[in-house]
Amino acid sequence: MSTTMTVQEAGRALADPTAYADEARLHEALALLRREEPVHWVEAPGYNPFWAITKHEDVLEIERNNNLFLSYPRPMLLTAELDEMQRQQREQGMELRTLVHMDDPEHKKMRAITADWFKPRSLRRLEGRIRELAKRYVDRMAELGGECDFVTDVASQFPLYVILSVLGLPESDYGRMLKLTQELFGGDDPELQRGANAEDTMAALMDFFEYFKELTASRRANPTDDLASLIANAEVDGEPLSDVHTFSYYTIVASAGHDTTSSAIAGGLHALIEHPDQLARLQADLSLMPLAVDEMIRWVTPVKQFTRTAAEDTEIRGVRIAKGESVLLSYPSANRDEEVFEDPFRFDVGRDPNKHLAFGFGVHYCLGARLAKLEARIFFEELVPRLESIELAGEPQLIATTFVGGLKHLPIRYTLK
Ligand code: HEM
Repeated sequence: MSTTMTVQEAGRALADPTAYADEARLHEALALLRREEPVHWVEAPGYNPFWAITKHEDVLEIERNNNLFLSYPRPMLLTAELDEMQRQQREQGMELRTLVHMDDPEHKKMRAITADWFKPRSLRRLEGRIRELAKRYVDRMAELGGECDFVTDVASQFPLYVILSVLGLPESDYGRMLKLTQELFGGDDPELQRGANAEDTMAALMDFFEYFKELTASRRANPTDDLASLIANAEVDGEPLSDVHTFSYYTIVASAGHDTTSSAIAGGLHALIEHPDQLARLQADLSLMPLAVDEMIRWVTPVKQFTRTAAEDTEIRGVRIAKGESVLLSYPSANRDEEVFEDPFRFDVGRDPNKHLAFGFGVHYCLGARLAKLEARIFFEELVPRLESIELAGEPQLIATTFVGGLKHLPIRYTLK
């Protein structure tokens, strides 16, 4: 691929929300970094500096080495303003402490609380409810009369309903939760955010906090068999979880379980529309669905990055990384690495093996990976056999964000059986 970009410009794209709304530009930058400088120091306006890690092998190695590359205190790339806000919250003992912020031994104990819940045996119990919701949304597509914005009408709602059912929240609260998660995690996109500054993010966080405080009190008073009760009544080393820990746990489950899966489903459908041969292949052989879902997730890579901080001076690919410096793990780059994936820019519903890193790797490997794949598989099992035709009805638009992203609009026209 010929490019007019410099390596410095390519590096800065990783800290530029608008770059993620333009896939061609993003992948041009990532391919250049993989080729020219796979461990590259980025100084970008509005962000504290970091090392951009763009090769699959290096992302894997850093994630494996979780005692050398720590999640705390900077688990993801945020603006310098939000980094500063976190630092102040930390000083006041008010910072969010989710699984992604923690290292062992704390991380291990906290993860153990819900680990069983996300195992296949427990998930099997949810299959019926997920299929009922998937059917409901495919029926809704039929009711909409052959045209809709697939993101706002279906993809942004279905996974939220699943995760809120899992948590055990009433359907009447779903609208409020949808808005809150989008405001908090709509990243840097002005269309989705409540506002553009740290104070607005803080206000959205406080709304969330109030909501979950009431939930914890009610599940402590009347425990049920849902995930919210498990979290509200959990103990670590014989002590109940603190308010911050409880709140953080709900927040990570509600947020991590929602936009990510929405993006995978919307981007997956977009890929099928753009590759009608692959849609036809899937329609002819639905047993390809599990492979197709993994390929959709590789293709979309909803989570754009997590970061780690070096606990000691070290080296990656012969490049010296000093203690305290951050490394950014670029998942979209790892998932297009020519050294690992044959023809990485080909969308192939039968791709096997598919060693993508969209769910990360190692001790922080996505807790909800099985749930996410189950949701996507069931949704497409309901939709694909009913599709007689499908095409774009307008220009798809991507979210401008450096964190969890994907489509924010996917206008489609279709006929369903
Ligand atoms: C962590 C991706 C769906 C819950 C992560 C990580 C990634 C990721 C990249 C960090 C892994 C690492 O640092 O190595 C995704 C994608 C999803 C998805 C692409 C959908 C396609 C879900 C769902 C849930 C969930 C449905 C449901 C609760 C979590 C949690 C963590 C996590 C709790 C933190 C795990 C830890 O730090 O130990 N996810 N995720 N995710 N994810 Fe997901």
